[in-house]
Amino acid sequence: DKRELILAFESSCDETSVAVIENGDRILSNIIATQINSHQRFGGVVPEVASRHHVEQITLVIDAALKEADVTYDDLTAVAVTYGPGLVGALLIGVSAAKAIAYAHHLPLIPVNHMAGHIYAARFVKPLEFPLLALLVSGGHTELVYMAAAGEYEIIGETRDDAAGEAYDKIGRVLGVPYPAGKEIDRLAHLGQDTFDFPRAMVKEDNLDFSFSGLKSAFINTVHHADQIGETLNREDLAASFQAAVVDTLVQKTVKALEQYPVKQLVLAGGVAANQGLREALTNQLAISSPDIDLVMPPIRLTGDNGAMVGAAAHVELMKHHLADQTLNAEPGLAF
Ligand code: KG4
Ligand code: ZN
Repeated sequence: DKRELILAFESSCDETSVAVIENGDRILSNIIATQINSHQRFGGVVPEVASRHHVEQITLVIDAALKEADVTYDDLTAVAVTYGPGLVGALLIGVSAAKAIAYAHHLPLIPVNHMAGHIYAARFVKPLEFPLLALLVSGGHTELVYMAAAGEYEIIGETRDDAAGEAYDKIGRVLGVPYPAGKEIDRLAHLGQDTFDFPRAMVKEDNLDFSFSGLKSAFINTVHHADQIGETLNREDLAASFQAAVVDTLVQKTVKALEQYPVKQLVLAGGVAANQGLREALTNQLAISSPDIDLVMPPIRLTGDNGAMVGAAAHVELMKHHLADQTLNAEPGLAF
């Protein structure tokens, strides 16, 4: 039987997800149970609440993933799991479930870095070609990652403070947009104009790092100042101006990185990769400055946290025999 079937787990934050992936590039199932409704009233993810939801959901999600893929445990080649970075209690639920199944069914256990998983979501669009550069933008990370070959990761730039998604979520509170705010601010931005001229931090500096906390403060100060003088600002224009500043910064630093690191592909990855403004700006910019570089953007449904991306990254680790044993533990601060 030439079918390689990986049962892949993702539970690093507020999504409980299990997928069955065939030969590293075909999704047989990708069940995602989201907990967003339970966290919204707190304005962010509450770790204790997240862990409890993962415990409640995990066996249901495993059963649904096997059923939808029409496979049994006996058909599986390996079990894969995100073991970091993320919330320790949340990660432990996926790690424990994956270890239990690997032990009971005598299957290899593949440890996967969550951020590598985000990059490998692009594998469902087309084969990855190396060297490649990934712009990795999520709720916890904003990084430029250079990959000389499959499964090799080098961070060449990163945020010095807030992640891009985190900035969206924080200004969302000021705009009265519920957590996670990125998608709604993206929608509002398309209805407004860039009239506020917010700062583009560090774009003139000769490095590949980012900073979004100054932009966040400028945004909050602008809204508070208007409140104090009894003025109401246009929400669509505020959203459009904020998004223009984030997108400009991300695109300009990516262009700078491409000048220093010649690559075949640029992969957009992470939850913020769903952003329409960012997708359009990168597409337009690359067409002008690097028409030979292949821009790979995963479909929107694979940009957020999911098991399928973990299965795709796991396939590469399995080829390299990078396996874990029953001592595998969650690593909340895991780096590449
Ligand atoms: O990768 P992800 O699902 O979880 C982490 O690993 O952090 O990313 C979640 C982040 C949230 O901050 C959310 O607001 C943001 O992605 N996000 C967006 C959009 N959709 C989700 N940010 C901007 N525009 C969007 N369309
Ligand atoms: Zn993520």
